[in-house]
Amino acid sequence: MDPSSTMLLSWMKDQRPKVPLMKTASTFSRNLEEALDARRADHSLFTRTMSAWKSGQAIDFCSNDLLSLGVGGRIRTAFLEELAKHPNFNLYAGGSRMMDGNYSYIEEVEQEIADFHGAETALLVNSGYEANGAIFAAIPRPGDAIVFDELVHASAHDGMMHSLARSRVPFRHNDADSFRDSLMSVLDSEPMIRDGSRSILVCVESVYSMDGDVCPLMELLDVAKEVGSKQSVVFIVDEAHATGILGPNGRGLVNALGVEKEIAIRLHTCGKALASTGAVILGSASVRTALMNFARCVIYTTAPSFPTVAAVRAGYNLLRSGATQAAQARIPELVKYFFKAIASKDVWSQASDMGILSIPLSEDWEAREHLVHVVPVWTRQRYNYWLVFHLQLSGICAFPIDYPAVKKGESRIRVMFHSDNTEAQVDALVTALCGFAQEMIDIEKAGEGTQQVPKAAQRVYALMASA
Ligand SMILES: Cc1ncc(COP(=O)(O)O)c(C=O)c1O
Repeated sequence: MDPSSTMLLSWMKDQRPKVPLMKTASTFSRNLEEALDARRADHSLFTRTMSAWKSGQAIDFCSNDLLSLGVGGRIRTAFLEELAKHPNFNLYAGGSRMMDGNYSYIEEVEQEIADFHGAETALLVNSGYEANGAIFAAIPRPGDAIVFDELVHASAHDGMMHSLARSRVPFRHNDADSFRDSLMSVLDSEPMIRDGSRSILVCVESVYSMDGDVCPLMELLDVAKEVGSKQSVVFIVDEAHATGILGPNGRGLVNALGVEKEIAIRLHTCGKALASTGAVILGSASVRTALMNFARCVIYTTAPSFPTVAAVRAGYNLLRSGATQAAQARIPELVKYFFKAIASKDVWSQASDMGILSIPLSEDWEAREHLVHVVPVWTRQRYNYWLVFHLQLSGICAFPIDYPAVKKGESRIRVMFHSDNTEAQVDALVTALCGFAQEMIDIEKAGEGTQQVPKAAQRVYALMASA
């Protein structure tokens, strides 16, 4: 069986309810599986799937290896060179950063990264998830308020749950008017913020990981200045999807806009374009000291070890040297190519008019300042998995994004572009999407009483039945 069918089959099998088959199981196991069956009921159980592109038999339109530093081996070479310069390195960090886990190498790398981004200090932590947990646990002081874009990452939401902020107020995604309303409502209801003795912390992302659009940061900064001119309104910007992708040598959106001094805290993650792991929190010396004293997820964990830090340095060395510039420039070119190629197909306009296929980012792409690697593709909600099956069986790896990663009713397929994707691969993606669209148009036009299930889904269901 080909790797895509194997992957789909194992995924489908994992979605079958288990509790009905567990008559003699322990209470403990039954209760766990009962909770998991609730996920299986709408096919949203997360499983350990093995993407078919990893076997070389399908195309990667899903991984986070955005600059292709991982697949091309460039990060490995840079990492091995870094290790070779430090042959006596330790594998262990030796403890928490505030106890025995500090060492001169990590301090040196942090300062290099801070300098690269034009920040006062940098603190390296084990992941972006940990970084957001640390930021929101440590930075808001009692009486502060957090105003956040409704689509910020789950790690920011989880971090906020542990924060000491008095209120947490969302605003509509990337909407400056809604942002103004949220700021005003906080100022109206919080006298200590109004009189300037407490702060509003604004939480946004440079590039939204599920929607692929870019924060209108300048506009939000202007609104903050206008509304809170006498108050303390500070920005926290998560640059996870902008690292390596936006700004000079991939420094991120804040550097691209030259507003380093106006942003209190930035978060860069290393698990995406930098093709390793870990994350960096940029801010003032006070921010760093607060993180080290108030963030339990930084205090009660082992510091990043030498190999982690060396891999991060290797990635940053590639950015700094300009070695990733061509890869960075390639991504918007590929996205542009995709938008033009799909728009040139006859079936596209019919499919989009009928609501069978939609790519919101392609609608006004010429007017967009930034085209980035994330491009969500929408079909009717009930067709979403059929489209996934169709893409997988056409040799295209792209993941469905479902609740809880996005709101219920907003499932979509997230296509991720990488600098090493070729035009021929993008053509294959376009052919697969248009093939699906044509099939669904034919099914819908044929109407009730005819074959209602597209071929790829029939194949997957047949595999299931025979398994
Ligand atoms: C916007 C954003 N912030 C934080 C994270 C978490 O980063 P990490 O994978 O390093 O934990 C992610 C990862 O998906 C992300 O997209």
